[in-house]
Amino acid sequence: MTEHTTEAPATVLRAEDVAVHFGGVKAVDGVSLTLTAGRIFGILGPNGSGKSTLLAALTRLVPLTRGRLLFGDRPYERAQPHIIAARGVARTFQTVRLLPGRTVRDNIALGAESAGSRTRQQRRRAAERVDRAIERAGLTGLERHHPDELSYGYQRRVEVARAIASEPTLLLLDEPTAGMNRQERDDIASLLRDLREEGLTQLLIEHDVQMMVDTCDHLFAMNFGALIAEGEPAAVVRDPAVQEAYLGKHGRTHA
Ligand SMILES: Nc1ncnc2c1ncn2[C@@H]1O[C@H](COP(=O)(O)OP(=O)(O)OP(=O)(O)O)[C@@H](O)[C@H]1O
Ligand SMILES: [Mg+2]
Repeated sequence: MTEHTTEAPATVLRAEDVAVHFGGVKAVDGVSLTLTAGRIFGILGPNGSGKSTLLAALTRLVPLTRGRLLFGDRPYERAQPHIIAARGVARTFQTVRLLPGRTVRDNIALGAESAGSRTRQQRRRAAERVDRAIERAGLTGLERHHPDELSYGYQRRVEVARAIASEPTLLLLDEPTAGMNRQERDDIASLLRDLREEGLTQLLIEHDVQMMVDTCDHLFAMNFGALIAEGEPAAVVRDPAVQEAYLGKHGRTHA
């Protein structure tokens, strides 16, 4: 590993012993993880294993039952969600959350404006970020459409564009390719790799194991609210505990 080299990548985010309990449901129960700069991290895990709740905890959208969160070296487990967004954490949601009555461009502009756009110069910069996000997400020509005129795959692109329009330091994506065909998935994976080339740190939740191995630099595997494995993607998906928890469900119990 890189611990003994002088150029260890900077830590972007740390979670320490994070738990989120809903009454008796231990949705997340003692997760510790570190995200370092410029890499794509992935979370694999069966339905209900706590992936989305972990993302909600990292973005402060659910209260922590216990644990500590650090963005850079600043603790933020008590901060409001908009403070976290303003510091550079953007996310997409598992289900599409777009304003149906507004155009594609307006929806994306909401992301750019959340970065703060009070002066004329700030508004111009925000408009430039929107233009760039539209282009990056492959939405050129669709700016004036309304979300319900787009396919599901394209609606998801609008969500990604809205998230990157704030030019975040860290992007969290909850199943951005759910409901997409293979080509659309490959396009999103390619966009995420381009964003990594520009230095954007990402945490990606997906059920598509092949896409995760191809796209991520480091995988976390969850089951019952806890991490059961982490490390190099190909090794994590071969891990017997991961196979048992996740892959076994898809008929791999027979040799
Ligand atoms: N707001 C809530 N109130 C009560 N229980 C919740 C709440 N949110 C999630 N849960 C429960 O927490 C557990 C983890 O759910 P979560 O949505 O985080 O799983 P997931 O890994 O994202 O699953 P999926 O792959 O289906 O999206 C589940 O048992 C779920 O029913
Ligand atoms: Mg989920």
